[in-house]
Amino acid sequence: MLTILTAKEHIEKFTSGHSLPCLMSCVDAKGKYLQVVVKFRSTVHGNKTGLICEAMASMFAKDLKLTTPQPFIVSLDPDLEKAELDKTIQKNIRDSSGLNFGTLRLPTQYSVVPTGPRLPLSLYDAAAQVLAFDLLIGNADRHKDKPNCLMSDTQIAVLDHEIAFPEARGEHRPKPWEIGGLAFIQSHVFLSKLKGEIPDLNPIRNALNQLPKGHFEQYLAALPEDWSSAPVAESIVSHLEQVKNNSKKYFETLRHLLR
Ligand SMILES: Nc1ncnc2c1ncn2[C@@H]1O[C@H](COP(=O)(O)OP(=O)(O)O)[C@@H](O)[C@H]1O
Ligand SMILES: [Mg+2]
Repeated sequence: MLTILTAKEHIEKFTSGHSLPCLMSCVDAKGKYLQVVVKFRSTVHGNKTGLICEAMASMFAKDLKLTTPQPFIVSLDPDLEKAELDKTIQKNIRDSSGLNFGTLRLPTQYSVVPTGPRLPLSLYDAAAQVLAFDLLIGNADRHKDKPNCLMSDTQIAVLDHEIAFPEARGEHRPKPWEIGGLAFIQSHVFLSKLKGEIPDLNPIRNALNQLPKGHFEQYLAALPEDWSSAPVAESIVSHLEQVKNNSKKYFETLRHLLR
């Protein structure tokens, strides 16, 4: 089960995202305090569906050995709203009582991805894992104007997966190993930087192939019951199982895309 925290205090709001996530001081069941970026159920795309996508993508990213901050389920303390001075955030807190999604604040050495045509050499392979991951989860929300990832000297941390998994919103797109299945990724922040390169995709390929059969059922078990019982959660598990079963074809298709 993803750890459930209680948000106790609002520290800072992030204005870079449309959903106005907030950095909050949160406490776990043992009384340990953590700084977590909380995404409000009332402001993410698709509300509960968006949060389920966030949680599923985050668990999958960890299993594929990508860098991503630790995910949490966050319940908002009722006193938060009373203590809040910003009217917009006060409303977001009020409209998001119950469970929300959060990620552990990344260390300060992570900063925005450069928008220039080239990446530092040390980040090419990391960028390729991110592109391969986004194709697998159907995530078109990582482009030049909105990279939704933060980088350090050696790593790229992925964030913001509320509109991944098009099947969760009833969208029918070809799967990434099918004809036309990679077309949605044309404006991806790393695609033009990687075209013509030969990045090492073995880390993500091996991590995917090593996941045991039935592994994605554990993702359902990790969600709060109210989320795991939603049909969208089942549809994401079914998508991920297909991803695993078609990985050979997928990586061949991706090689063609990068040529
Ligand atoms: N765990 C985190 N650590 C540090 N910064 C974060 C974290 N999560 C989000 N952010 C910052 O907040 C911004 C908005 O978060 P994001 O999940 O992209 O929200 P939105 O869905 O509103 O775009 C990110 O671009 C990033 O700068
Ligand atoms: Mg964002």
